[in-house]
Amino acid sequence: MERRSRLFDSVVVGGQPLPNRIVLPPLTRSRATDHGVPTPLMEEYYRQRSGAGLVIIEGTVITPQATAYPRVPGLYSAEQVAAWRPVVAAAKRDGAAVYAQLWHVGRQSHSSVQPDGLPPKAPSPIPITGFQYRSANGRIPYETPRELTTAEIADIVQAYGTAARNAVRAGFDGVELHAANGYLVDQFLNDGSNHRTDQYGGPLENRTRFLLEVIAEMARHLPAGRIGVRLSPSSDWMDAHDSDKRALYSAVVRRLNGLGLAYLHLVEPEIAGSTTVDRPADSIPTASLASLFDGAVIVTGGHDQESGERLLADGIADLVGFGRLFIANPDLPRRFRTRAPLEPLRPAGIYGGGPEGYTDYPSLAISGV
Ligand code: PHB
Repeated sequence: MERRSRLFDSVVVGGQPLPNRIVLPPLTRSRATDHGVPTPLMEEYYRQRSGAGLVIIEGTVITPQATAYPRVPGLYSAEQVAAWRPVVAAAKRDGAAVYAQLWHVGRQSHSSVQPDGLPPKAPSPIPITGFQYRSANGRIPYETPRELTTAEIADIVQAYGTAARNAVRAGFDGVELHAANGYLVDQFLNDGSNHRTDQYGGPLENRTRFLLEVIAEMARHLPAGRIGVRLSPSSDWMDAHDSDKRALYSAVVRRLNGLGLAYLHLVEPEIAGSTTVDRPADSIPTASLASLFDGAVIVTGGHDQESGERLLADGIADLVGFGRLFIANPDLPRRFRTRAPLEPLRPAGIYGGGPEGYTDYPSLAISGV
């Protein structure tokens, strides 16, 4: 006998009742303007996917220096805030809560996209090895980043706050801090990328300081209950190495628990940034970290309807993200509900370009469903 679906149970996140437990997770699609301004094409894309219970808008940079790639949106200018409003309204059409993912890439950037043309800044001057930067002219080695001064760290913390305030002004219900995938927050957390000897490096208490300062700063502009945090505890993508990831991320989740956050968003061990890998031998079970967090937990990474239902039934997750399925199936919740067949993902148009591979995936006709 088929068990009852839980994906369509409502759930309260950040005090807001959501119509279902299906999450559109943040996905970089590079359809903003060259100045990081959201476009009408993005409005259409998010309207098409507004059947999710929670829409987490793609990684959105907090300053011009925070970016790695062209056509990624931002939340640092008045023009961007104004252009976000119709996008956010479109994503809210069917009752979804809509959060902005706030992003700073640190050493994953490159001088070719930095406003001053110099190498990016990071906790320590340690380049990424084993991976290459996705430049306009193909893959090239990462550069040695410049070390952030404490004054610059304070400026970045403040910029997260300003971006959070801008998100509220643009109509977002909340923000998600991107602390995953070897980007800036993760660079502070991991001892492989953080060799600092000041209050931001060394013991766990120091390496988590930046994360906690950023959350505290954002919480000056919106309630902590409207702030989510995303972690990828088992991933070493982009050279995110730590001598004891289990101790690190257990400590991080314990510190996040008790802040009254909207949610904890965990990336599954089989996901390495935008790619899929074999589960690392030393991976940390998602369930063990989720059990350390009392609030809502979102789990994302390689799931389908069946495995998503299992995460909910087993009490591991409260909501489930479906990235690739949502790219190819804008009406994914409806297809899940009606057990309709799913469209396959096409490689063309995942990053950049126009409507092809972005807004041209079909939705089911509403009649007859
Ligand atoms: C990507 O553009 O490939 C990308 C962006 C953000 C992530 C992971 C991958 O967190």
